[in-house]
Amino acid sequence: RLHVGQIIHLVAISNPYNHIIIACSSIMIELIPILLAGALCFLVYLVTYAQTSIPSWRTIRMFNKLPGPEAPFFIGSAFELMRLELEDIISWMKERFDAHGGSFGLWMMGNPVFLIADAEVAEVILTSSKNIDKGSDYKSLERWLNNGLLLSTGDKWKQRRKMLTPSFHFKILEDSTDCMNKNWKKVVQKFLVSKGAVEPLPIMGRGALDIICETAMGTELVETDGRSKEYVGAVKRATEASVVRMLSPFLQNDIIFNLTSMSREHKRDVHILHEFTEKVITKRMEAFEDEKRLEATEYSESDGKKRQVFLDSLLELKKKVNLSSIDIREEVDTFMFAGHDTTSTGLQYLLMHLGENPDVQEKAYREQVEIFGYSDRDVTKDDLSKMHYLDQVIKESMRLHPPAPQIARTLTEDAPLPNGLVIPSQTRVNINIYHLHRNPKYWDDPDDFKPERFSLEESKNRHPYSYIPFSAGPRNCIGQKFAMLEMKIGVSTILRSCKISAVTKSADLKNKMLIVLVPSTPIKVEISPRN
Ligand code: HEM
Repeated sequence: RLHVGQIIHLVAISNPYNHIIIACSSIMIELIPILLAGALCFLVYLVTYAQTSIPSWRTIRMFNKLPGPEAPFFIGSAFELMRLELEDIISWMKERFDAHGGSFGLWMMGNPVFLIADAEVAEVILTSSKNIDKGSDYKSLERWLNNGLLLSTGDKWKQRRKMLTPSFHFKILEDSTDCMNKNWKKVVQKFLVSKGAVEPLPIMGRGALDIICETAMGTELVETDGRSKEYVGAVKRATEASVVRMLSPFLQNDIIFNLTSMSREHKRDVHILHEFTEKVITKRMEAFEDEKRLEATEYSESDGKKRQVFLDSLLELKKKVNLSSIDIREEVDTFMFAGHDTTSTGLQYLLMHLGENPDVQEKAYREQVEIFGYSDRDVTKDDLSKMHYLDQVIKESMRLHPPAPQIARTLTEDAPLPNGLVIPSQTRVNINIYHLHRNPKYWDDPDDFKPERFSLEESKNRHPYSYIPFSAGPRNCIGQKFAMLEMKIGVSTILRSCKISAVTKSADLKNKMLIVLVPSTPIKVEISPRN
């Protein structure tokens, strides 16, 4: 019997173009296993996709009654969106929000998706105690965060949220101010040695990571320490891999993702991250046992002050409720992830706005001088309560550039809307904070930077769900007080030592809505010393 390659070879030698045919046929033969593997992957994708994603007939009928652009059934707007650059999605969505009155539905490869930039509709979803399922959108973070607070759902989420809310209490917030002051001063030192246009994100990102690491785990990430460096690198790579996976419909499939080299690298990074957290937990647990024997509830740090960190509260809880080491690790990892990129992202946009609006910067600086004189002393709790204008500036910056630009849910029950329409269960909902914060129904001149909008007078009649940078309702951000404290201490420290001038202009900037908001080109500012 002849092998298929031999047949092609025999045909080829009787042909004047035989060398070309031989070359093509050898390539084809080489490609056969790759094509077969590709076809197999696609088949696996389709089968698992059909099992998990095809909605019921009832959902299809109800969903088709909702407003939305015309598009072919099943595929819907998927191909149209796939052809767009990521930074053009914001303007694509704006056109549709404008055309359909603030919310619209679209099909995406058989998935019903409802997008919301309207406060009344957002309120229905966010106040529900049943529709709290994050669905598949954050699946790419599962390997790292397991089933921690951000990703869990149902009874597990309810119990954890109840248990963790007091853990992230006032004492931890108060005890974190020293660490925040110390780390923002380090950031300022790095800013002041910079020459010309500087990208503030990597510098502030490292500052925010140091702060959350010390607050969540009580561990300092020393710049020269190899293990700390390895951890910082793994945080960066694991976050990037999660974003790449989130954006690719194929890579979201576990079977396909597991076949890629990215999956193997991601596994290695997750191993580094888990090992680091586990070591810190074990060390802290031993210290906890020793201190308990001495009947102490808090820990002495090198400066002799007693401080409590988030991990300590979890270890205390371990005595009362059944918490395994994995349970503790997944919560520490979740707080590490949720607590650093968001804050530094918020601050990089804020520096851009301060640079672009020198009058706002001057007014915010004058408020600091009133509180501190010309001192660079640490910020105290008392000082924070006097920073009314800075509070408005931070809020306005997060209105225009919300660090977490969208919230995802998969509905487990129907959501009846105030206008009589119903979003059926199984729909994937996207609450688009970016567009909600610029909806002209709630904001005059929505694209202008005007911190005074957040004065008590101007805020009092605004719809409570028209401004939700930290989400709202039962699943809102558990770290919002911490984040506001950290940002206020950060900006106060920076403003008192540095003058910021704009390099990047917000009008020239496009943004991508990933896990956090990402500028299409890095934001740059120029920094000069105040005195
Ligand atoms: C400017 C900074 C921050 C912003 C804009 C922000 C925003 C948000 C938003 C919008 C959510 C809801 C996500 C969703 O429903 O899918 C959320 C949840 C969460 N955030 Fe934040 N966050 C910030 C800082 C922090 C910090 C500093 C921490 C921890 C120290 C933190 C921990 C969490 C956790 C654990 C959740 C999940 C809560 C739950 O599902 O019960 N966040 N955050």
